[in-house]
Amino acid sequence: MHVAVIMDGNGRWAARRHLPRTAGHRAGAKAVDAVVTAAARAGIDTLTLYAFSADNWNRPPAEVSGLFTLLRRHLLTQTQRCLEQSIRINVIGRRDRLDPGLLQSIERGERATLHCSGMHLRIAIDYSAQYSLLEACRRLQLESGIDKSRFVTCLAEVDHAAVPAPTVDLLIRTGGEQRLSDFLLWECAYAELHFVNCLWPEFDASAFEEALAEFARRDRRFGRIASQPEVRSNHG
Ligand code: IPE
Ligand code: IPE
Ligand code: MG
Repeated sequence: MHVAVIMDGNGRWAARRHLPRTAGHRAGAKAVDAVVTAAARAGIDTLTLYAFSADNWNRPPAEVSGLFTLLRRHLLTQTQRCLEQSIRINVIGRRDRLDPGLLQSIERGERATLHCSGMHLRIAIDYSAQYSLLEACRRLQLESGIDKSRFVTCLAEVDHAAVPAPTVDLLIRTGGEQRLSDFLLWECAYAELHFVNCLWPEFDASAFEEALAEFARRDRRFGRIASQPEVRSNHG
């Protein structure tokens, strides 16, 4: 099972406490651990977290650089905790616009956890689904006989994904907004959407488990009727 999370609401969490936005991001980074551990414990195969969108570059430069410092530090500590839980780290998104220090901690984290056979933890940094889809099309335009499997492989290459992007089963967004914000547009074709008002720094293991419980109650039909067995898509 693949769960994707749009971790939204750090800024509002800070504003409510009259703190700078960066304090909200710090609190948000702390919330990540509990959710990663809860996901691994629940037997989730892949967890993809949206940490920084390509559009987030449009934020004030001080917030952007604060976020990158935090991400770099977080990756270092996350790597240690992932090793303890045999979780494999993979950062997806563009790498050509990241600073060398962050790139180094990404590569270190990925290399150190390469052998981990437990959950696959994907962190989306400088990610834009529209960019990925367009870039995959650009790379494939001279090839003939493109099919869905070739497209998905190419998308994984564009995203620096360790394995071809699995489809998302459950997408969780905290912070109350009900939109995708350019996250995993291809992969979410049949995702169950779970929107919660709780701000990301307040989202914890029990909120994650509640999302899983709600998912289990959904009736996924994939275009069929309720009584038919689940089968794969018949196109592409
Ligand atoms: C999510 O929280 C973190 C990032 C987008 C990096 P926000 O910073 O978007 O928080 P709000 O939406 O302003 O509350
Ligand atoms: C989406 O949140 C990106 C991340 C959580 C990293 P935003 O706060 O940037 O999304 P919008 O701007 O409200 O759509
Ligand atoms: Mg936001």
